Amino acid sequence: MTEPATATPYSGTIPAQPGPRDVTDALPGRPGSTVEPENPEDPVGATTSVIPGAGPSASRPGERATLRLRDGGDGGDGEPARYAPEWLQLRESADAAARAYELLDPLRIRLANLPGRADGFVIHDIGCGTGSMGRWLAPHLDGAQHWVLHDRDPYLLHFAAVASPRSAADGSHVTVETRRGDVARLTSDALSGASLVTASALLDVLTRDELGALAAACAGAGCPALLTLSVAGRVELTAPHPMDQEITEAFNAHQRRDGLLGPDAATAAAEAFAEHGATVKLNPSPWRLGPEQAALTEQWLRGWVGAAVEERPELAARAGTYLAERLEACAEGELRVVVQHTDLLALCRPVGGTG
Ligand SMILES: C[S@@+](CC[C@H](N)C(=O)[O-])C[C@H]1O[C@@H](n2cnc3c(N)ncnc32)[C@H](O)[C@@H]1O
Repeated sequence: MTEPATATPYSGTIPAQPGPRDVTDALPGRPGSTVEPENPEDPVGATTSVIPGAGPSASRPGERATLRLRDGGDGGDGEPARYAPEWLQLRESADAAARAYELLDPLRIRLANLPGRADGFVIHDIGCGTGSMGRWLAPHLDGAQHWVLHDRDPYLLHFAAVASPRSAADGSHVTVETRRGDVARLTSDALSGASLVTASALLDVLTRDELGALAAACAGAGCPALLTLSVAGRVELTAPHPMDQEITEAFNAHQRRDGLLGPDAATAAAEAFAEHGATVKLNPSPWRLGPEQAALTEQWLRGWVGAAVEERPELAARAGTYLAERLEACAEGELRVVVQHTDLLALCRPVGGTG
């Protein structure tokens, strides 16, 4: 997966930063982001594309929503999708609240039994985005940690580097380095010496082959994998509406476009790791969104309905009314949404004394 450190100006070991910072502090040109404004003419995003899992917000008709950070890389021209740091920032606290804490104890036990643990842990975060997984997990683990942050987008790696976690649960030092690369090319050699592989909100935007590469690399390196917040394809809105199921099904179909795993990701990952002899644990990790998370809920709603309409254009008129009603309820603090996700811990068989 990884490319030489010289492949990106952001590669290289970076000392721990003075405490987790707001990721968007690092946005160029703050205040006022580089993300395209929403299109008031097209509240559903029906004339736009929505990239699965990328996070919502409508853009100009004919453009991909969400990801117009810079030229290219919008997922519509054969280039990989790019994820807006604003969206990743918006979801970070909901992600942190949703994560399956039940998986931490078995992980801690596994890490505590590592032969070289006195030297600290090496943790690879695949598809790290702006680094939210490290900001959450590093302070939940004892011991010195070196995080290797992987992503194919060097722009996001920059954010991850500047907002890296400061210290472990017991105050031990945390350092980071960034590596640009694609998970499809990840190998067990690249994970040599790894104590743990993590990923968050990644599996559902992978293909089965990419997932297979990840599982094979982890199994080959004999290290455990904590793979969190894969969408489960189930959503509960309060109060229920007759269109909820129709939108859900169209959204899920959209997520499976182009061979992406979408809501099948956690099951596919469990199977892939089990085939390599790993012990796999799955736990729910739902977003529970209420009035406190109205900004996230609004953006999620726009993306969710927009993707559904892109998948089934015949829904556009009814979905427009539906979205307007849902947004009104959200603005009035009356909407509650549970978006189901799944966290997975794969305890791969140790190899060569590494795990
Ligand atoms: C939904 S974002 C999640 C980011 C971050 N893990 C988080 O939870 O905020 C998915 C991330 O995976 C990266 N990504 C997607 N497909 C990838 C691939 N095939 N190889 C490497 N990175 C990938 C994207 O660039 C993006 O940063």
